[in-house]
Amino acid sequence: MTFLFFLISFFFFFFFYSSSSQKICPNCGLQKVPYPLSTNPNCGNPDYTLKCHNQKLYFNALNGTSYLVLKINPQTQKLVIQTQPWLPNQCITQDFPVSEGLWLNQSLPFNISSQNTIFIFNCSPRLLVSPLNCTRSSLCHEYLEYSGRVDPARVLQCANTINPCCTFIAGGLPSAYKIRLHSSGCRAFRSIINLENEKPAKEWEEGVEIQWAPPPEPVCKTQTDCSGESKCEITEKGISRCICNRRYCWDHVLGVCSKKGISKTGFPVKISIGVVLFFVAAVVMATVTIGKSRRIRRKAEVAKKREELFKSNSGMKSARMFTLKELKTSTNGFSKDRILGIGGFGEVYKGNLPDGTIIAVKSAKVGNIKSTQQVLNEVAILSQVNHKNLVQLLGCCIEAEQPLMIYEFISKGTLYQHLHKESSNFLNWQLRVKICLQTAEALAYLHNSAHTPIYHRDIKSTNILLDDEFNAKVSDFGLSRLARPGLSHVSTCAQGTLGF
Ligand SMILES: *[C@@H]1O[C@H](CO)[C@@H](O)[C@H](O)[C@H]1NC(C)=O
Ligand SMILES: *[C@@H]1O[C@H](CO)[C@@H](O)[C@H](O)[C@H]1NC(C)=O
Ligand SMILES: *[C@@H]1O[C@H](CO)[C@@H](O)[C@H](O)[C@H]1NC(C)=O
Ligand SMILES: *[C@@H]1O[C@H](CO)[C@@H](O)[C@H](O)[C@H]1NC(C)=O
Repeated sequence: MTFLFFLISFFFFFFFYSSSSQKICPNCGLQKVPYPLSTNPNCGNPDYTLKCHNQKLYFNALNGTSYLVLKINPQTQKLVIQTQPWLPNQCITQDFPVSEGLWLNQSLPFNISSQNTIFIFNCSPRLLVSPLNCTRSSLCHEYLEYSGRVDPARVLQCANTINPCCTFIAGGLPSAYKIRLHSSGCRAFRSIINLENEKPAKEWEEGVEIQWAPPPEPVCKTQTDCSGESKCEITEKGISRCICNRRYCWDHVLGVCSKKGISKTGFPVKISIGVVLFFVAAVVMATVTIGKSRRIRRKAEVAKKREELFKSNSGMKSARMFTLKELKTSTNGFSKDRILGIGGFGEVYKGNLPDGTIIAVKSAKVGNIKSTQQVLNEVAILSQVNHKNLVQLLGCCIEAEQPLMIYEFISKGTLYQHLHKESSNFLNWQLRVKICLQTAEALAYLHNSAHTPIYHRDIKSTNILLDDEFNAKVSDFGLSRLARPGLSHVSTCAQGTLGF
């Protein structure tokens, strides 16, 4: 057994490292360059190019200005760059004459994150009437006077009665790609990340935080460009990419196709435990269940048939058939304390899959249910719907009386809860506008981009869920399709589903 264990571990590590190492760029000085960032054409993803010069890493913005990279966090897909130094004896930063501030190339997958609080200095008086905070109590004054990072002579130039300084919070939108300086605006800027008012200005962290979009699978010309776990396939945009094989999914942090639902360290242990359990179970099963076997076999056949039907319908990797047993285990036997909410369509339960995924299990009590096959057809259609502002349908289970739908779990609950003070977080206007926009985007997508237009028919704050970053996730779309035509009014007078 020990031998087997080592064999498997060895195989796994060999396999894992051989398939991933080629893509990651070498360090630049002491700075690691994680995937997808790229310092030369042979590694990383070319859309994420940085410059390594004299052992230092630089982020190239438009119009020829480069910013020193201070740190990189591949897990959150963020990096921090240093703002440009001052010109001698003036309150002007060096990027003002060259590029009028920081401009990102909008075609590249970077934007300015919402963690930045920007101070702009040496502004023209017309900014006093802008919505920016240019008052005497504005935090930019605190920065100038107490951070110890601006010499006293410059403090006066940066903010005086004619040329004020102003503070605003930048970023957090896909369109956040510039911090603009201008001769009729302001001539210098600094940025603080995660600014906390209560802390003394000396402890504020300076730099501009930039976020990158998760990279898609790498581009390929032939199969030789791809690892063994992927195939060079033409995607819908006409570009060939290394698409991961079944049972693998694209891990954009490591830049590899990794096995679904299995963490890399847990794998050998799980296998060996699995092998032991399998043998024990096999012996027990063989002795005990001979009598029951016929019934079980028939059941399994039905399940298999359904699954085949399902596969042929969806033809996609995304949706999955769950067994009732699996769901019972994950929801603790549909226990009451797992109920997230009760709505027009039935209860919603929170469940944990063995691989750590948290799911929401929802029974689709939609009056007169169509036949199993029709339900499967609908699930196949709904599972192809893929938009960042829609709750992802992971699969379904049709062994129970009513079909059960399995969705991704969204952490922050419904918009309703936030608006009606059932939650401690207060939504500011920026967040509200963002949620509106994202909901509209999701609906536009359902109406226009899905293969068959899907009409939600029941959009309301209880059907809009919020994730950790208060992104809107529209839920319950298409459930009305599960009901027979003519009964679809069930969905419009449903009470919505609280909580999931
Ligand atoms: C910087 O580049 C952008 C995009 O190419 C251009 O629109 C803008 O005018 C440039 N600004 C300066 C100061 O050159
Ligand atoms: C912006 O990035 C795109 C894509 O890499 C590139 O083709 C384009 O030339 C860049 N624009 C500028 C002004 O550098
Ligand atoms: C400007 O910012 C300061 C410090 O955060 C705050 O006390 C003040 O109320 C703000 N003024 C305006 C007009 O927003
Ligand atoms: C900023 O860009 C990142 C990556 O493109 C994206 O995930 C994020 O949603 C954008 N910010 C907002 C608020 O849309």
